Amino acid sequence: MKNQIRIMFNSIYEEYDLINNLITFGLHKNWKKQIVDISRSLNPKRILDVATGTADIAIALTKIKNCEIIGMDLSSNMLDIGDKKIKDLGLQQRVILELGDVENLKYNDNYFDVVTVGYGVRNFENLKKSLDEIYRVLKKNGTLIILETSVPKNKIIKLFYNFFTKFYVKLIGLILSKNFEAYSYLQKSASNFPHGHEFINILKNSKFTNISQDIKLFGASTIYVANR
Ligand SMILES: C[S@@+](CC[C@H](N)C(=O)[O-])C[C@H]1O[C@@H](n2cnc3c(N)ncnc32)[C@H](O)[C@@H]1O
Repeated sequence: MKNQIRIMFNSIYEEYDLINNLITFGLHKNWKKQIVDISRSLNPKRILDVATGTADIAIALTKIKNCEIIGMDLSSNMLDIGDKKIKDLGLQQRVILELGDVENLKYNDNYFDVVTVGYGVRNFENLKKSLDEIYRVLKKNGTLIILETSVPKNKIIKLFYNFFTKFYVKLIGLILSKNFEAYSYLQKSASNFPHGHEFINILKNSKFTNISQDIKLFGASTIYVANR
């Protein structure tokens, strides 16, 4: 499955940013800014953006001064787009992108003040192993910030959400992506991935504490913040 995930993201890298903007109506940028604000308030010296993809969050984090930023991802093609964006913005001295697997992070124990993950966790093959690795590389009292899709609770809003994800997201994928299957998978995984208290319990199982959730767009996405 992990190889399939890599192949999938290696095939949708060119249109990923455009489709991401269309299916969130650009709102993902605001939520990513919120990740930066939370991170900044923690006065970090070193941040890891796991599953950085095309490096949106890693780039946004460069707004934090005097902080080393590393973005890592499984897909070299997604990282190539990220590297190009970093070069275009002249940010090569501020952020480094590295190829890797969250299940086997190459970093030392207690290394990062903050770890961020945007729309990554629902793609991890072994979620428990991935969260345990993130826990290991976080400093004691370090903070994990996760942005992930969730499902609205309100029945009427959920009807709109189901219609939107089943038709609109797939339609955009069909029109704009060479890989329709990928957007079909991304839609299904968004509907099925644990969210809210279920996901909070998963974080607790990996020993995270002080967990909070901030629900976005009636529950279509959620920002989770947790401490090591
Ligand atoms: C939906 S994209 C999110 C990209 C970016 N963080 C964003 O917010 O737009 C999910 C990313 O997770 C990465 N990914 C999936 N499994 C991974 C793993 N085991 N280790 C590292 N990255 C992984 C994929 O390669 C892909 O780039």
